[in-house]
Amino acid sequence: MLLPLLLLLWAWGALAASPPVPPRSLTLRLLQTVIFHNANSTDIVGTALVGDLETHSLDCSPCKIRFLQPWAQQGLTPKEWQDLETLIYTYLSNFIYMMNDLVKEEGEGYPFVTQFTEGCELHPNNTSRQFCDAGMTGEDFVSLDMDTGKWVTRRGDKLTLKTQEILNYNRAVAIALRFLLRTCVNELKSFVKHGKESLERQERPVAVVFARAPPPAGTPAPLLLVCRVTGFYPRPIRVAWLQDGEEVVPGGQLNSSGILPNADLTYQLRSSLAVEPGDGHSYACRVEHSSLGGQSLLIPWGQSRRWSPGLAVGIILGVVAVAAVAVVLWWSRRRGYQDVRPGETRA
Ligand SMILES: *[C@@H]1O[C@H](CO)[C@@H](O)[C@H](O)[C@H]1NC(C)=O
Ligand SMILES: *[C@@H]1O[C@H](CO)[C@@H](O)[C@H](O)[C@H]1NC(C)=O
Ligand SMILES: *[C@@H]1O[C@H](CO)[C@@H](O)[C@H](O)[C@H]1NC(C)=O
Ligand SMILES: *[C@@H]1O[C@H](CO)[C@@H](O)[C@H](O)[C@H]1NC(C)=O
Repeated sequence: MLLPLLLLLWAWGALAASPPVPPRSLTLRLLQTVIFHNANSTDIVGTALVGDLETHSLDCSPCKIRFLQPWAQQGLTPKEWQDLETLIYTYLSNFIYMMNDLVKEEGEGYPFVTQFTEGCELHPNNTSRQFCDAGMTGEDFVSLDMDTGKWVTRRGDKLTLKTQEILNYNRAVAIALRFLLRTCVNELKSFVKHGKESLERQERPVAVVFARAPPPAGTPAPLLLVCRVTGFYPRPIRVAWLQDGEEVVPGGQLNSSGILPNADLTYQLRSSLAVEPGDGHSYACRVEHSSLGGQSLLIPWGQSRRWSPGLAVGIILGVVAVAAVAVVLWWSRRRGYQDVRPGETRA
């Protein structure tokens, strides 16, 4: 298994000269999940992400890489992509073979799941870091130490220690992975260059402030002001509450949903502030985001802007307006009708 692998790596050769580094830290991450149903049946699914953007998917029977972004094929020739598929297939096959052997030997049961995450981070100062970690049934399992090329683990159970020992003895998996990771930084630089538009995409947040439906009359509960911010990209954002223009310091009054994903690769967040009804202070929600070009959104909350009476008044005004128009129309038509009647006097 090792010799063809080394030949493949030798044949691949060096990648093109490296383009510039990104303006902010960026990570290229490959994820592979291996589901061991039984000794003869495994499923492999994989995906690659640049930052939070899904760029490739992997389907393994045998391994085939699919490109999910128009620029995701950049950086390698079609032949090199094929070699990469072979490389991934080789190390996953080695790994699966080894795991099945081990599970049999140790008398462990099926099904179980292993997950790999490997990739690299590139920083604006042109330094980079590579990583490769494996998990088993949702927990840390083994990691590849990039400096020594040895597998390390923080778990002490027999299966993990045995896996670590075999992986350190049979070098094929580590060699394939280290090669994959050596190309990672150059690939990431290529994506930074060709995928600039999608990676530097900016979507402005839309924010509203409203009060949660007040508690039933007579219960002395605080009023919950909610600032809902949605549709923003990239993910980093700062949302704060201001009381009389002063930022409210984090504490029991404040609560946040944390940043949650939307279906269209934008994000949302809700921040709430508990206040005493009619306390005489002014409140506002302030949103700072890279898409706002150094400015911030300021959404005030005023007692007069409380949505429920406002909405009710709006609906009543609307109904009155429609009724008035109807009456005028009816009256003018009636008058017109009377006009054509001969011999009658007008009122
Ligand atoms: C970044 O570092 C690499 C080697 O680590 C070098 O080849 C490249 O020229 C550097 N790029 C910049 C923009 O300094
Ligand atoms: C796996 O395949 C081998 C030989 O093909 C067979 O003997 C064994 O029963 C199979 N095991 C399972 C769990 O299907
Ligand atoms: C480069 O930047 C990263 C992330 O900002 C930082 O962790 C690292 O220490 C920096 N390295 C150098 C040599 O400045
Ligand atoms: C914060 O909000 C969550 C749900 O949105 C709720 O479960 C939790 O109790 C709240 N925490 C506080 C301190 O109000």
